[in-house]
Amino acid sequence: MKLFIDTANVAEIRNAAEMGILSGVTTNPSLVAKEGRDFKEVLKEIVQIVDGPISAEVVSLDADGMVEEGLPLAQIHPNIVIKVPMTAEGLKAVHRFHKRGIRTNVTLVFSANQALLAARAGATFVSPFIGRLDDISFNGVELIADIATIFDIHGIDTEIIAASIRHPMHVTDAAKAGAHIATCPYAVLDRMIKHPLTDQGIERFLADWSKVEKR
Ligand code: E4P
Repeated sequence: MKLFIDTANVAEIRNAAEMGILSGVTTNPSLVAKEGRDFKEVLKEIVQIVDGPISAEVVSLDADGMVEEGLPLAQIHPNIVIKVPMTAEGLKAVHRFHKRGIRTNVTLVFSANQALLAARAGATFVSPFIGRLDDISFNGVELIADIATIFDIHGIDTEIIAASIRHPMHVTDAAKAGAHIATCPYAVLDRMIKHPLTDQGIERFLADWSKVEKR
C-alpha cells in the first residue's frame, strides 16, 4: 500500500517527502482554507516537491462548473488529479474528464455502490472516508474490504484511497483490507514513525556507548 499525505501545508509535505515515504498528496477545500493561501500557488509548489498524483478538489456542484474549474487545475501539471464529490453531477464530470484523459479522485465515498459507480464513470481513484464512518458507528475498514473485493472480482483497476485516516491503526487495517493507498495527515505519519521501545533502545545504546568512549 502506498502512502499519500492529506494536507495543503507545504512544510508538512516537504518534511514527509524528505523521508522518501510519499507517493502522492491529497488536498480538500477545508485543508486549503486552513492555509489561507492561493490554491493554485500552493499546487504549483506541491508539484515541485512530490512526483506523484496530487489531488485538487473542485467546489462547484454542477458538472459544467466542475469541468470548468478542473480544467485549469489539470493544466498546472500532469500530476494534478481532479477531486470530485460523489454525486450524480460529480459522476458526469468524472466521465467528461475521463474522455479528455484527465485523472480523477472521487471523494466522499461512504458505500461500496458509490465506489462501483465512480469506477464505472471512469474514476482513477475512489476515496472512502473511514474515520467519518467510524464516527457514526459504521465500520470504515469493512467498507475498504468490500470495495477491494468488488474491484478484485470484477477486474476494476480504479485505485482505492483510504481517506479520513485518524490514527496509525487505520493505516494498518486499511493495508490489510486491500486499500492501494492511505492518505494520512502529517500527525498520523509522525505517530507511525514512533515506538517507545525504539526511543528506549536508542537511549540505552547511547548510554552504553558513552561508557566506551570514556575508557
Ligand atoms: C480525503 O482525501 C480527505 O481530504 C480527508 O481524508 C478527509 O479527512 P477528514 O475526515 O479527517 O476531514
